[in-house]
Amino acid sequence: MPLQAPQITVVTLFPDMFPGPLEHSVVGRGLKEGQWHLGTINTRDFATDKHQTVDDTPYGGGAGMVMRADVVAAALRDAKTKNPKAKVVYMSPSGTKFTQEKARELGAQGDLILLCGHYEGIDQRVLDAEVDEEISIGDYVLSGGETAAMVVIDAVARTWPGTLGKSESLAEESFDIHDAEGHQLVEYPHYTRPEEWEGQSVPDVLKSGHHGKISEWR
Ligand code: ADE
Repeated sequence: MPLQAPQITVVTLFPDMFPGPLEHSVVGRGLKEGQWHLGTINTRDFATDKHQTVDDTPYGGGAGMVMRADVVAAALRDAKTKNPKAKVVYMSPSGTKFTQEKARELGAQGDLILLCGHYEGIDQRVLDAEVDEEISIGDYVLSGGETAAMVVIDAVARTWPGTLGKSESLAEESFDIHDAEGHQLVEYPHYTRPEEWEGQSVPDVLKSGHHGKISEWR
């Protein structure tokens, strides 16, 4: 956990999409309480022509448009002056697959700048010059990086102590439960009241009070 409240800056063509779902639930509570901070930078503000153009046709031909290196670089550099210690992550379907382990690693690092692309992508030169890492949330193509950035922010913010209350602690969660070889195990089934619902009852072992047996069952 970083010493100061982590700062997350999203570089996006759609700043109005934020905080969106991130203002709800435990992560939203942390945001409201100032345990972490969220800022946005509108890439379009860094366009230099009168039409505020951010994209252009690709060299070599092909379908779609590409976001311009000069415009994206100016937006990213502004993000870096506002958030100088941040790691810069580009949300991209061809990036490294996002996992719980990666969420923990980014959480420990603290400040982040998340770059969201649109159209066919971003000119490679600005990625080479300004980005530390590319992350994909899965093998499918989204229309932009914003929803992927929200997924990453949610998972990262949950790793910070203080985001989850004691009763919601990460250590209790499926992703932090390991087998003897240290492999992560998936979630076990959960039950709460009523004890009997539409003819289905809660497994007896969970009502036995026998912690050893309950662990084994789970
Ligand atoms: N942008 C578009 N698709 C994406 C994906 N699957 N992961 C991250 N960023 C993306």
